[in-house]
Amino acid sequence: MIVDVRDIYKDVSKYIDKEVVLQGWVRNHRRQKEFGFIDFSDGTAFKNIQLVYDNSLKDFESIAKIKVGSSLEVRGMVIKSEGSLQEFEVKVLNIKLLGDCPDEYPIQPKRHTREFLREQAYLRPRTNLFNAVFRVRSIAAMAIHTYFQERGYVYFHAPLITASDCEGAGQMFQVTTLDLDRVAKSGNVDYSKDFFGKTTALTVSGQLEAETFAMAYKKVYTFGPTFRAENSNTKTHASEFWMIEPEIAFCDLNGVMDIEEDMLKYIVKYVLEHAKDEMEFFSKYVEKGLIEKLTKLINSKFTRISHHDVIKILKEAKVKWEFEPEYGEDIAREHEKYITEYFDGPVFITDWPKDIKAFYMKLNPDNETVAAVDLEVPGAGELIGGSEREADYDKLIKRMKELNMDPASMEWYLNLRKFGGCYHSGFGLGFERLLIYLTGVENIRDVIPYPRTPGNCDF
Ligand code: 4AD
Ligand code: MG
Repeated sequence: MIVDVRDIYKDVSKYIDKEVVLQGWVRNHRRQKEFGFIDFSDGTAFKNIQLVYDNSLKDFESIAKIKVGSSLEVRGMVIKSEGSLQEFEVKVLNIKLLGDCPDEYPIQPKRHTREFLREQAYLRPRTNLFNAVFRVRSIAAMAIHTYFQERGYVYFHAPLITASDCEGAGQMFQVTTLDLDRVAKSGNVDYSKDFFGKTTALTVSGQLEAETFAMAYKKVYTFGPTFRAENSNTKTHASEFWMIEPEIAFCDLNGVMDIEEDMLKYIVKYVLEHAKDEMEFFSKYVEKGLIEKLTKLINSKFTRISHHDVIKILKEAKVKWEFEPEYGEDIAREHEKYITEYFDGPVFITDWPKDIKAFYMKLNPDNETVAAVDLEVPGAGELIGGSEREADYDKLIKRMKELNMDPASMEWYLNLRKFGGCYHSGFGLGFERLLIYLTGVENIRDVIPYPRTPGNCDF
């Protein structure tokens, strides 16, 4: 019977003294004169299983030559282990070598740097660290879907190719089928001849389209890739990343903070429960005390403070800043770090100066700030960005004109304010930043399978 290692770990008593067939890969091989041990992984569990064999087997000599990385089919008996490191092991009866692996296989059982493994990204899920990271990625995705589905949200698939720049930051990857060589020679571009008859790009956010569905379903969420041609080489920026964007009708800024807090605690709880081995590994080897930090989060109340009051705290702090904090301006990485340490946990910063935020955010009565909220967490910085949306047709048009945007190009979006419009809010959770926070792995390049960053698009 072919079994998954994961099933054996789930309830070993069902398998003790029984014969099983396992299919998987050699992680490590220690041989002695008369017997040997193979650390074996079939990928279904974070933990390896130990295979033991001895020279009573007729092909002992060839088994002893099996190399790290090879794929095997193993028939053996699950037995109580004599060693103290594991509870049980598999005594080999027979091994079939399915795929050999040469000595130059890069993932040998020793410490590799994360930089080296990034270059070997197609092999890195075979290491403990990355195996844990990408299983947690899968489990966290399930947590998010479960959270929203259980609460009646509709999963909305936003288009990836779009004609609108949601964030207005001009960081879009253009999509074109025009022959750029010919365009360069002729010296002019005629976008009416382009594939879609106009300029188009990869989406930076599915929010605007999600708003249209929120006006029909009340509660929706997206979960998909987004793209930003942002030339920032930091540990938390990628050119392609996944975002979750809930959009909720009849919800204001406080309501959206309540949802964010509840959602985040749910995800953390879910991952701690469903990825026990992986989380213990991170807490021991990647970020000491990670499980404690996450458990504390579940039981804490997140701080809510305005941008104005944050700047006040920063200005009063006895710190030599690289960038001086200012009331009308964005906050820098060093400020984010200070403020999450100051409050010792996640912090909602609300009511941002309108000039540093996007056009669709609701203008506050002061005419200076907007009903926006960013959630800052220790380590990952800005984890979530959200706002109440401007529901007033005239105010929205006025803001677009101030920002030199063409209202005619977004008629459908503006019409939402005319056709039964209502107050509504939403937010965007950066999935990789969430994983940085959940795993303690600091670099965004190490929590997405094939990272795309400026100058890098391998695999
Ligand atoms: O703050 P942002 O730009 O907000 C939006 O896109 C809104 N449309 C969201 C909404 O209200 N529906 O991005 C949201 C989040 C950030 O807080 C961050 O976690 C993540 O997306 N993010 C990035 N993650 C990785 N690499 C990048 N370059 C990112 N840019 C934003
Ligand atoms: Mg933001």
